[in-house]
Amino acid sequence: MNFLTRRKPIELPAHAELKRTLSWPHLVALGVGAIVGAGIYALIGQGAGMAGPGVIVSFGVAGLVCACAALCYAELATMMPASGSAYTYTYSSIGELAGWIVGWALILEYSVVVSAVAVGWSGYASGLLTGWGLDVPQMVQFGEVAGHALHFNPLAVFIIFVVAGLLILGTRESAWINSILVVAKIAALILFLAIALPAFDISRFTPFAPFGWGSTPTETGTNIGIMAGAAVMFFAFYGFDAVSTAAEETKNPGRDLAIGIIGSMVICTLLYMAVGAAAIGAMDFRDFAASGEPIALIVRTLGQPEAAAIIGGVASIAIPTVILAFLYGQTRIFYVMSRDGLLPRSWGRVHSKLGTPIFITLLTAFVTSVLAGLLTLGEIASLANAGTLAAFIAVAISVMVLRRREPARERPFRTPFAWVVAPLAIVGCLYLFASLNTGTIQRFFIWMAIGIPVYLLWGAHQSALAKKGWRQKR
Ligand code: ALA
Repeated sequence: MNFLTRRKPIELPAHAELKRTLSWPHLVALGVGAIVGAGIYALIGQGAGMAGPGVIVSFGVAGLVCACAALCYAELATMMPASGSAYTYTYSSIGELAGWIVGWALILEYSVVVSAVAVGWSGYASGLLTGWGLDVPQMVQFGEVAGHALHFNPLAVFIIFVVAGLLILGTRESAWINSILVVAKIAALILFLAIALPAFDISRFTPFAPFGWGSTPTETGTNIGIMAGAAVMFFAFYGFDAVSTAAEETKNPGRDLAIGIIGSMVICTLLYMAVGAAAIGAMDFRDFAASGEPIALIVRTLGQPEAAAIIGGVASIAIPTVILAFLYGQTRIFYVMSRDGLLPRSWGRVHSKLGTPIFITLLTAFVTSVLAGLLTLGEIASLANAGTLAAFIAVAISVMVLRRREPARERPFRTPFAWVVAPLAIVGCLYLFASLNTGTIQRFFIWMAIGIPVYLLWGAHQSALAKKGWRQKR
């Protein structure tokens, strides 16, 4: 039962394998690149459909929960600037089994986000190509198993492998391209604000909560209400955690990570509140709730087709930055978990010249491509939310555990009012988790029911700490 208590030491041995090339502007760009994506560009329609004009409150609640979690992340990321994000923090503060559970939840989160965003992107890209006279279908059916159609999504697979190629060539180049695309997608949202705000009509906010304030199940299996909207729109906010996975490639982790995580969170929360209010004020929410491109639709309806085309084009070009950040995070988490022995060690090998983990990057690209081909967008976002909420809860617990156990340890960034902020993050995440659809919650627990035996049969014996006969110092 040693695995219940053994913990990774916080002073990690120096690993010179990954190159330190990133500083805070790269990290803010990486964060904003990971946050602003399919959530605000596409899912906002669905959120408004679930919550009504009160989706503004949904944004506020989701943003507040994420801000509390972001503050906890920043403390841990600067205290133990090692790759692996919530997985590493939990492993070091609570123990190996808890660390594995969080790593397993992160694998779910990151893969599903990559797949979901790639599928969302393929819709825009397919539209763009059709406009140019090239008919590339979004989905190609190639068979059927037990009544379920099997699909292949050529564009989603294409974009995942393009992004994987960028990551293999080197983080710095990828981050540089990422920065340009981040600027473009923020500029497109500002263009949207400039067009939508003059059409603002406050009467569109009445009734404010037509589906109630809570999360009520409907016959179709989806929930409605402002909190149901918050549980889904949460998808639009996270991504800042991807920044902390870059810790081992950051030049000055103590300063750069705190600025990267908190800066990207604040910028995005403010932007989303503004975009949400402008969208509801400019058009009846029922008219854009079902659209796959609500931001472009509103602008087109306001008589600006050229601006709508620009926004649609930018979304198609820039949304892959989200795929970049999550694919990056996924490969680094795999890398650290395999280095720790919880996944096969050979997976963590780094290419001698490029300094990047090629095998893991390609494996991740392959698995997320299969998911992107087989799954539809519908509930993928909420499944990713379930994995993320679990990781956020573990991070907030880790902050409190370490404050108790190691109060004197140096913390380059301290979560303000930690004993209020961390419990708020936990309660908020539990509440959002409970507001998800029952089907999503069941799928999450099935994933966990697979992961725990995998750990008990493999990781518990192969763990680097177990092999070293490491004993926890008390
Ligand atoms: N926050 C990311 C998005 O909205 C996952 O695409």
